[in-house]
Amino acid sequence: MNYPLWVVPDLGGSWVIGIISIIHIFISHFAVGGGIYLAFAEQLAYKRKDERIYNFLKSHSRFFVLLTTVAGAVTGVGIWFSVSLVSPDGIASLIQCFTLAWAEEYLFFVAELATAFAYYYTWDRISREQHLLLARLYAIFSVFTLVIINGVLTFMLTPGKWLSSHWWFDGVFNPTYFPSLAIRLLIMLAIAGMYALVTCTRIEEPKFRTFMVRYCAKWLLPVFLLGPVCMLWFLSQVPHSVLGTIFTGIQNSGVGNFSILARALYISLVLSGTILLFAFFGPFLNPRGFTFKVAILFMICGFAATGTTEWMREMLRKPYVVYNYIYSNGIHKDEIEKIADEGFLHRGKWSTALTAATPTDEFHNGEIVFRYQCMACHTEKGYRSMKKLLGQRDEQAIISFLQILRERDPQKNNYSNIMPPLAANDAEMKSLAKYLASINTDEREKNTAHRSPASDHSISMK
Ligand code: HEC
Repeated sequence: MNYPLWVVPDLGGSWVIGIISIIHIFISHFAVGGGIYLAFAEQLAYKRKDERIYNFLKSHSRFFVLLTTVAGAVTGVGIWFSVSLVSPDGIASLIQCFTLAWAEEYLFFVAELATAFAYYYTWDRISREQHLLLARLYAIFSVFTLVIINGVLTFMLTPGKWLSSHWWFDGVFNPTYFPSLAIRLLIMLAIAGMYALVTCTRIEEPKFRTFMVRYCAKWLLPVFLLGPVCMLWFLSQVPHSVLGTIFTGIQNSGVGNFSILARALYISLVLSGTILLFAFFGPFLNPRGFTFKVAILFMICGFAATGTTEWMREMLRKPYVVYNYIYSNGIHKDEIEKIADEGFLHRGKWSTALTAATPTDEFHNGEIVFRYQCMACHTEKGYRSMKKLLGQRDEQAIISFLQILRERDPQKNNYSNIMPPLAANDAEMKSLAKYLASINTDEREKNTAHRSPASDHSISMK
């Protein structure tokens, strides 16, 4: 509404965000877990006065610092870029809720980066006590980045008391804050162990290698022992209506789709089980037979498990950005009624500018409504495409569909738990129908021939 949008053909903007985020999540969890690992392992070396552990950590930390500072920072900034291009209105609201939290996040992030470099470049240059202190400081700063960002992530799913108080404190320390913090910490330790297992397989001396492989495998234990309990704790804090979506939401929508969330849950459980067995029979029982290739396979399993679990968490709060408050397309829940009366396009600065020159061009207006309200989840002809989902519907059938989508009462709108209600007045709804109908027909070419395409005004990858 208020900002230009980035149109990503075929793939859709949500996938651009998704791909960058999953990589970032894996690296950032690794950065935090790895920081804790480095501090503990260095303490172990210190206590045992074992030069071999020191030497191992020196080479282990090289790739660690490079990966977490470069790839972690680049993908982190990548998330901001992609989110603010794909759903600018949603992210603007989120920034307004948590300006202080974001500022603190950056503070800790800078502190984390600075200590990471100091830590890496001072091996053998400062006393061992001082170096251990740096390792511990790094671990503490990186845990604090989690402490803050976890508040924002969990807020989106369970805003809790904040919905009535609007006090940032209620938002950050929301119902799923602590269980989620616990789960993430456990996962971070496991990822740190998995990565250290990869570097351990490079150790040549067999006895030391066996010792280190066993030591690293132990880092996976906490998540398997405490993970299920924390998961139940987490789920107990999630509203029942959200949990219902895992198994029924999408089936009930009439789309006839077996719940993708149930499938993702299944994959995530199978992967976690595989990792558990892998860890037990591999590095723990048979540390000598644990090779570099197996360690890499192990990491890939971890990556896939993290990816599916995070994806599930994102899907759980759909169609909202902030559950029960802001929809995925940036529209506030309580604005829908007003928009249905007063219209959508002239509410936002950018959408007003886009339609000002051609107020009567229905096709063009319909396209703008589509971009702002549907493209957070759909594309024209690619991922979750309108072409496929509209099927055989003609303009009249599309109007009937949109009339259902416009209902705010879940009894009348069976899409209400997967899609935001359409926020548009009658004229805008008809424009949208006209535009959508053209996707499946040749009318498209006729229309595009004599209009000023919206893509002239917004950023487009085409
Ligand atoms: C929050 C994400 C989201 C938004 C925003 C969204 N949709 Fe959907 N839509 C979905 C999902 C998920 C499905 C089910 C897709 C599937 O089965 O693959 C769906 C299904 C559909 C279908 C097929 C329904 C059926 O019963 O055949 C149509 C048509 C559709 N959407 C149109 C729209 C339009 C038009 C808009 C904008 C006004 C919109 N959607 C906005 C997520 C969304």
